[in-house]
Amino acid sequence: MRHLMSPLDFSVEELETLMNLADDIRMCPEKYSHSCHGKKLASCFYEPSTRTRLSLETAMLNLGGSVIGFSDAASSSASKGESVADTIRMISCYADICAIRHPKEGAPLVASMKSTIPIINAGDGGHQHPTQTLTDLLTIRSLKGRLHHLKIGLCGDLKFGRTVHSLINALIRYTDIEFVLISPPELRVPDYIRDDVLRKNNIPFQEVIRLEEVLQDLDLLYMTRVQKERFFNEEEYVRMKDFYILDKSKMELAAKEMLVLHPLPRVNEIAVEVDDDERAVYFKQVQFGVYIRMALILTLLEVKIC
Ligand code: NCD
Repeated sequence: MRHLMSPLDFSVEELETLMNLADDIRMCPEKYSHSCHGKKLASCFYEPSTRTRLSLETAMLNLGGSVIGFSDAASSSASKGESVADTIRMISCYADICAIRHPKEGAPLVASMKSTIPIINAGDGGHQHPTQTLTDLLTIRSLKGRLHHLKIGLCGDLKFGRTVHSLINALIRYTDIEFVLISPPELRVPDYIRDDVLRKNNIPFQEVIRLEEVLQDLDLLYMTRVQKERFFNEEEYVRMKDFYILDKSKMELAAKEMLVLHPLPRVNEIAVEVDDDERAVYFKQVQFGVYIRMALILTLLEVKIC
């Protein structure tokens, strides 16, 4: 039995297979519409979510399966003091696969150690967000045509942004990848990413504060929201929240082929006027998220497609 805790749980070859399956699902959705008939996804969200939760649930429904779960810790027995370990033992009796989002780093891992069904980490604190990374990889591969030879700008809250941490981990396995880390000094990537992931693997990267300085060189710009919920004080958040605003005038500095991705939700970091720019692909990214999560569910449940 396999779980998905980190994007590194799949080898590069396995990721290729997963993305090929997602492509096939995109081309022929009806072929898969009953593949998970009789199977249940437990969707356990201890932290708010719109996209990830609905995308996983839609993925299961598109496969002909059904969904149980909760979307708020307050409406689960966590509010009575039940541990994640106990909750998952119980859920293992109800469902065939479970997605967990939790504010504590490592909570899905604890669940996976007690579970008798596959667990998907749907985001754990500021740590990892592997299904978003799978979404990002499929989006890049589909719209850019490659996952190698890319100069990628990651911009915004690189300290608390789990999507960024997962994406860096996943992309360093491809050749000729270079990162430009764009953040205010207070929100730089954590030391373990800089030292143990980037430096240790000799991945070229630079850290800059000004987005305008580097826009023209990028193949991809991955914008992120300042993670309000992970700040210790409100004042600090207010000071940081509008540090970057990507608008039409900044887009004019960027290359014609540079794509803009964002895991969403967006707050102010991308002006709405950018949405009409054909390089803005964050809403297409949402659609790719459903296909790759369908592929993931099929793979973890080891469903054979005839
Ligand atoms: C991200 C998350 O939850 O980390 N959202 C998502 O799942 N698409 C990004 C964010 O909340 O900023």
